[in-house]
Amino acid sequence: MNYSEETWIGWMDQLAEQDYVVIDDFISDEEYAKIMGFFNDAEENDELKKAGIGAQQDFKLKAEVRGDFIYWLDEDRDQKLSFFFDIKEELIQSLRRYCYLSLSGSEFHIAKYPAGTHYHRHLDQFNESSNRQITVLLYLNKEWKKGDGGELVIYKDGEEIMVEPISKRVLLFKSDTVEHEVLTTNVPRYSLTGWLLHQPANVGYLLR
Ligand code: OGA
Ligand code: NI
Repeated sequence: MNYSEETWIGWMDQLAEQDYVVIDDFISDEEYAKIMGFFNDAEENDELKKAGIGAQQDFKLKAEVRGDFIYWLDEDRDQKLSFFFDIKEELIQSLRRYCYLSLSGSEFHIAKYPAGTHYHRHLDQFNESSNRQITVLLYLNKEWKKGDGGELVIYKDGEEIMVEPISKRVLLFKSDTVEHEVLTTNVPRYSLTGWLLHQPANVGYLLR
């Protein structure tokens, strides 16, 4: 266990009450360095690719909606990040136990927003068949300061909640109800982003 039962319960309570929770210093400095090492390797090997938006194929339009470059992770391949996948399992257990979510599986990518890019206001469930339940964001911007931009705005009950993308901070929110936006970043902006997935509806069909 990375975190105590009490700690998890506190976070799960906040998530249940406000539909989101911000957790600072979620990982250690050592773990942060591991992720950034992985990130730098991926960048040097040219693994980061322009992110898409559903079925939309138009490159120019895509860039207007979201400007990030991403690299999808694979738990078997990306053993360097195994410590992170372990914490993710702990998170899934806690969500099952305390939020009664039925989760199976996850999908994660690293993301870089070059200076001058943003992501329009959106929901993380693109369509009815989307099975994304919980959005997980781990920010990686060391020495982020006001003016760097790239804040995440949560739109909730007519309010705008600003979350600064500072390193080692985690933001969890409900993927189906929480609209959000990434403001234009003035410096390269780094994160590890993922979704915890609901049991796919067609699993019974596949097992038959
Ligand atoms: C997303 C997203 C927010 C962020 O990838 O869907 O909204 O803060 N990211 O990077
Ligand atoms: Ni999103």
